[in-house]
Amino acid sequence: MSIIDQLAHIEQDALSTLPTISSVEALAEWKSSYLGKQGAIAKLSRELGTLPADQRPAAGQRFNAVRGTLESALSERETVINSAAQNDAFTREAVDVTLPGRPTVVGRLHPSTRVLRMIDGIFAEMGFQVWESPEVETDTLNFELLNIPADHPARDMWDTFYIDTPAGAEKVLLRTHTSPGQIHAMRAHAPNPVRVILPGKCYRYEQVTTRHEMMFHQVEGIAVGQNITFSDLKGTLIGFAERLYGSGTKTRFRPSYFPFTEPSVELDVECFLCKGDGCRVCKHTGWLEISGAGMVHPDVLRNGGYDPAIHSGFAFGMGPERITMLRHGIDDIRWFFSGDERFLEQFV
Ligand code: DAH
Repeated sequence: MSIIDQLAHIEQDALSTLPTISSVEALAEWKSSYLGKQGAIAKLSRELGTLPADQRPAAGQRFNAVRGTLESALSERETVINSAAQNDAFTREAVDVTLPGRPTVVGRLHPSTRVLRMIDGIFAEMGFQVWESPEVETDTLNFELLNIPADHPARDMWDTFYIDTPAGAEKVLLRTHTSPGQIHAMRAHAPNPVRVILPGKCYRYEQVTTRHEMMFHQVEGIAVGQNITFSDLKGTLIGFAERLYGSGTKTRFRPSYFPFTEPSVELDVECFLCKGDGCRVCKHTGWLEISGAGMVHPDVLRNGGYDPAIHSGFAFGMGPERITMLRHGIDDIRWFFSGDERFLEQFV
């Protein structure tokens, strides 16, 4: 067979296999086997030298023409294969934009934070500023200045976490209540009037049970000035209870004892669950205790920088976790700081 016939044969062969090729890889193979340096056409062209000189130019042109034909057929096929691959990818990677979106999980405030903010808001409306005082205190501030000397039996009311200090140095502790904030607030204002609440964390060296945690919150309140009476204390706390539990909420004050107030009381609200009939939440009394309170003891007024002959005041202390538990019928305080999502996500 002549070189030209062989060339025609190769061309025909190449053009007939091309349409059966459908992948990029197979196309590259096709290209190298016909058009590559070691491909069929290149190999055959090495035999051009064997032709008589006068036939060579025409044969050379024929070679170029076949190369041209195959190259343009190749590029056409390439376009077809590429667009097929692209369409394929489009279907494979398609996103159904009509599907409903996944809802994002929104963070929420801890129940204690929510109640603290509610309490802050209610007292702010009544003219109380929100103050903070340290969680680490001295024995003097947490106890002595609040009329609770070292051997006073009332110390049994507060089991204390003491912090190691060098021998002879003043005793340092984690505050057992927010009441030392009363001293800080009075000393910052005396002899001018003061009206603040002090929310924050307290710590007790307690056996942790359903009713006791070693860390919890309190909100302390104190108002000192001239002519402040027990009526002011009652009006303030009744106003607070009505804003928290709804107007018309029944309240009662019971005599009690705290070393830093005289007289001392505890504030009860009517059980919102049974409306006073008696149930599990109120332990069948019909009442829920929500705050300790009283008139600031003259010694404590003096320790705060006031003259009890001129000044008087009231103070109160309440537990937001306790208030939340009573509000929502939560029977175990340990839920609050367990970090359990199942509990926390119920407060939206
Ligand atoms: N500090 C008291 C406690 O932890 C609560 C308290 C009672 C605070 C009466 C007061 C108060 O300011 O007047 O049990």
